[in-house]
This record gives sequence, structure tokens and C-alpha cells, in this order.
Amino acid sequence: MGKSLTYKILENNLISGELKPGSEITVKVNQTLTQDSTGTMVYLQLEAMNIKDIKTDLSVAYIDHNTLQAGFENADDHEFIKSAAAKYGIIYSKPGNGICHQLHLERFGKPGTILLGSDSHTPTAGGLGMIGIGAGGLDVAAAMATGTYTLKVPKVLNIELHGKLKTWVSAKDVILYILKKLTVKGGVGYIIEYSGEGVVDLSLTDRATITNMGAELGATTSIFPSDENTLDFLTRQERTKDYEGWIADEGAIYDKKLVIDLDKITPMAAMPHSPDNVAAVKDIEKIKVDQIAIGSCTNSSYTDLMKVAAILKGKRVHPDVSLVISPGSSNILKMMSDEGALGDLISAGARILEASCGPCIGMGQAPKSKAISLRTFNRNFKGRCGTKDADVYIISPETAAVSALTGYLTDPSECGLDFPKVALPDKFAVYENYFIYPPKDREGLEVVMGPNIKPFPLNEPLIDTMEIPILLKTKDNVTTDDIMPSNAKLLPFRSNIPELSKYCFGTLVDDFHVKAKAADGGIVIGGDNYGQGSSREHAALVPLYLGIKAVIAKSFARIHKANLINSGILPLVFKNISDYEKFDETDVIVLNGLINSLDCGKEIEILNKTKSFSCTLTFDGSKRDVELLKSGGYLNYVKNNK
Ligand code: F3S
Repeated sequence: MGKSLTYKILENNLISGELKPGSEITVKVNQTLTQDSTGTMVYLQLEAMNIKDIKTDLSVAYIDHNTLQAGFENADDHEFIKSAAAKYGIIYSKPGNGICHQLHLERFGKPGTILLGSDSHTPTAGGLGMIGIGAGGLDVAAAMATGTYTLKVPKVLNIELHGKLKTWVSAKDVILYILKKLTVKGGVGYIIEYSGEGVVDLSLTDRATITNMGAELGATTSIFPSDENTLDFLTRQERTKDYEGWIADEGAIYDKKLVIDLDKITPMAAMPHSPDNVAAVKDIEKIKVDQIAIGSCTNSSYTDLMKVAAILKGKRVHPDVSLVISPGSSNILKMMSDEGALGDLISAGARILEASCGPCIGMGQAPKSKAISLRTFNRNFKGRCGTKDADVYIISPETAAVSALTGYLTDPSECGLDFPKVALPDKFAVYENYFIYPPKDREGLEVVMGPNIKPFPLNEPLIDTMEIPILLKTKDNVTTDDIMPSNAKLLPFRSNIPELSKYCFGTLVDDFHVKAKAADGGIVIGGDNYGQGSSREHAALVPLYLGIKAVIAKSFARIHKANLINSGILPLVFKNISDYEKFDETDVIVLNGLINSLDCGKEIEILNKTKSFSCTLTFDGSKRDVELLKSGGYLNYVKNNK
């Protein structure tokens, strides 16, 4: 029986467990990555685990999210991460070096291996034929400490690509097309594996654009085969030695299949405020544009930006449009500078930002009130850009560049311009001066903790019976941005939970923290797909700090559910979804016999004391998850079991 590429890599790294969907396995983690926004917590947790050396083959600490230094806080965090990296043997990537996923593709990713990253777009690495999984920070800290990761084996969805993309249609349009078909929930519980003859014409960075936004489909990760294109990319990066060919067996078995004809795809756009609210650009009514942002881990590769420069060369950005461009890496910026493309962008009137996440995380470049902003990024949730009433559309770099010239959202295939053909350089620039490799002798090295770094909160072991109020009831599809907003004002406090707690659920309700403190804790009732979006661990740590003991929802997004368990917060699900309607804020509920129910895998009875009725909840988790919850979270568990 033929094996999928996914199963072949998992099997190659399998430490324990049975490789079948739904069963729990432990695998060797070859590489980890962190970015600074989640990284400070990861390294505080690694400190608390009290280890000497990391157990992975390679771990990298990137600084890409919070690179503005308007106060001392970010610089202190960078220094803390730098010192922790040196102490534990981790490669440190300085601010300005670029976006973690782009850099990891360029310099470290390796076909056939497993990468765990504390960022939800870690699946970008799947473009290189490796399994890149986004996980909570604690999982990443534990992976560095133990060299392992425990997960439930996902099902495998095979997307077979046929045909060839038309001119002006690119990888971004492909993934937007898939999002339109499958929605933000379509990949939940799956690893998406791409195959078919259509794969051959997709460059490595095209593939990475597609796997990057597999995160928006809710997939555990996405992966392309490692083939000649992979070898070509690694060779141009002077990393031929890292190449291995990895493809699925002939006749591989998959749990689900989707066939996509690339010829049928036209330029697409995700309209406000969800990545799956997709339509063909030609079908969207003419809208005037205020801002266009090009970059992010989805679309900041050399080819993406060189195409943009070629489209803008010798022309002028529309007077009403602010065009901002953030390159994916310092080496891309260097090549653009050497080849004159940077000059073309500047003479056209583009604003060049440093190589970092920048506007994608709301780190500068918030558009004006009620703006229409076109972005080549991966998310367009309300408020993420830093302006609450702005409307953000997600589009391809080609659509962005052409729209920057016309001043309205424009289908590039109808613009009448010549299609820019961009060839790859024989060799990419591979300067490494922004990387700091750990010293050989690390004896006696200490971490440096500035005043903005506060200890992270610890939960208590689970108690058997809780009588507790409902503090908040949310609708469906609440994002981690809704639970714990992240913007330029708040990012400097990512290692200061008490300060962040003042903004918890800030997009949904005012002063949640005051209510939570007055009630001395409580629970949250959530709708469908609770906690979708970014892997933000703070969306669990801040509620933990505010005394949230459980979230009862119709369903959970995968990473957020894992983050809740890691924090010792119970993620429970209504057995009958209609029971959701019966609960209101301020109702007091009683959860009884929790420990026994979890131990025995039984359903949990919930009594609504205020309205005098009972209903049933379920917990879908492994034995290990139960142990984590009983211990009061992952860190307590690791400490107890050292
Ligand atoms: Fe950075 Fe945005 Fe990607 S914040 S890692 S560019 S999703």
C-alpha cells in the first residue's frame, strides 16, 4: 500500500505510538523556531525547565515582529532572547534580518524533517518538503528541552493540482481559491499534501505561499514534495548538501482528495474580514484604495518583490495610495538593491520598510480611518491592521502592484501591461551577518532580564468541583486577536502579562479584566471555531492570569485548544450544540466530578444553577492532555515529572 509523503516523514521521526489518524504519537523534532512575540515566553519557560542544552538538531530565535524601538521594552526583550539563545545553544537572528518563515526557508529548512515553531505560519516550511507545525510556545520550549513533540495523527487531505497558471495569476490566487472552496475550517484535523503535474511549475517560494496560508484553512500543516525545484532553490542558496528528495509513494492512500485545475483560477481577493470571504477580483465592484502593503511571510520572496518592482518600473504610484513594501529578508533587500529594483520602487513612490513583519502585525502603517487597504498578507481580521474601521482585502503581489498604479482594486490580467518575467539569480545573496551563532563554550552564561519581563502565570492543579460564573459569551469564529489583541501599542508588553490583561477581549467587550477580577475568576462560553487565527499563546496565558478556569464552546481551533490545555484551562464542548443558546452571561454554573470524568473519558455534567437545568459537555483530548489539565498546565507537569 503506497504511503503519503506526510506518513513517510512522520514514520521516519516516530518515537512512539501508532501511525493512524487520531492516535497519539511522539515524534523527534529536528528543528524549532521562535519569533520574538511568542519567544520571550518560550525562553522564560525554557529557563523554568532548568535544562543545560537543547536536544534539537537546530533551533533559531528570530526577531521579526516587534522591531520598533520607541521605548526600552522591545530592546530589552531582544536582549533577553539573545542572551537565552547564547546560553542554550540557539541561533539568534537580529532585528532587520527578516521574517522568520522566509529566513527559515532560505537558510535552515531541510526536506524530510520536522520543524516545530511558535508561530502559526510555521507550515510555510512545507514548501520545502518538510513538516512544519505551528504550536504553542510551551510545546516549542518542551521540544527544545526534550527533542520531541506529541501530537494526534491528523488525517491527510490530498490536493491534486493539474494544468498551469495563466499569466497574471500566482500562488496567492491558488490558495485564496482553495480558501473559497474549503473555508477557514476546511483543513481542520488534516495535513494537506499537494501533488499532481501542476506542482512542477510552482517555484519553491510559490509553494511556500500556498503552505503558508494552509494555516488559514485551519490545517495542521501543508506540504509539497521535495523535487528538482527544491534542489534548485537550495543550490542557489548554497545549500545543496541539505537536499533530499521526498515524494509520496505511487498510489498513496489519502483520507480525502480534492482536484484543482490551475487553468481555471483568475486573480482573487479575500474581502473583509475573513481570509475565506473570497471572490474573483473581476467580480468585485470597483473600490478606491487608500493603502497597499506588500510583504509578510506569505508574499515577500525575491520573486514576489522583483515582479512588483518590474510592474512599477518607470511609472508612478497613484497620488491617493500609500504603498509600503517590507522585504522578507535582508538578503532579498540586498539583491534588490544590487539589481536596481529598489531604485525602481523608490522612484515610483513606494515606501520601503525594513525586512520584518511590520504592518502585518499592526506594527506601524495602520491605515487612516475607514481606509480600504489591500495587503498581500494572510489575514484580514477586523482591527488587525491597527485601524478598527478599516477594510482589508488580501490579494496577490501582482494585483497589489497594478492596483497601486490605478488607485483602485484592479484585476491585473485586464490592465494591459506586459507581464513581468522574473528570473532567479544564479546565486541568492547569502550574507549571514545578521545571525549570531551560539558560542562553543557556554559555561556560566546568564540570561539578561530587563524590567519589562515579568514571570508568566502558573495555574493551580485542577479541582474536582467548581461553582463559577459565566463572565462572557461570544459568537462563532472568535479569533485569538479578539481574545488578546496584538498591536503596536500592546506588543511591547508581551512579556508583561499583568499589563496585557487590561486589554483581554478588548475587541468584544470593555473592561473584561475588571469584571474577571471582581468575580475572582470564571468561565467563557464560546461559539464555533473558538480561538481561530494566530497561534498566540497569550490568548490562553492572559485568561489564565485573569482566573478563567474553563472555556465551553461549540468547537475549538486546534492550536488555541492546545494552548488552553497547556495553561491548565479546560476546553469543553457542548454535546448538543443547541445547548449553547441556553446560557447567558452572569449565569452561575457548577461542574462536578471533573477529575473522575476526565480520567475515565466520561461526559461531564454541567448544572446551570441560575436557570436550574443540566446538560452534557465532552472533552476531546488524550490521556496526556488530561494529565496536563490535572497538573494545572504543562509547566507544572514538566516540573512534577522531571
Ligand atoms: Fe509575521 Fe504576519 Fe507572518 S506577523 S510571521 S508576517 S503572519
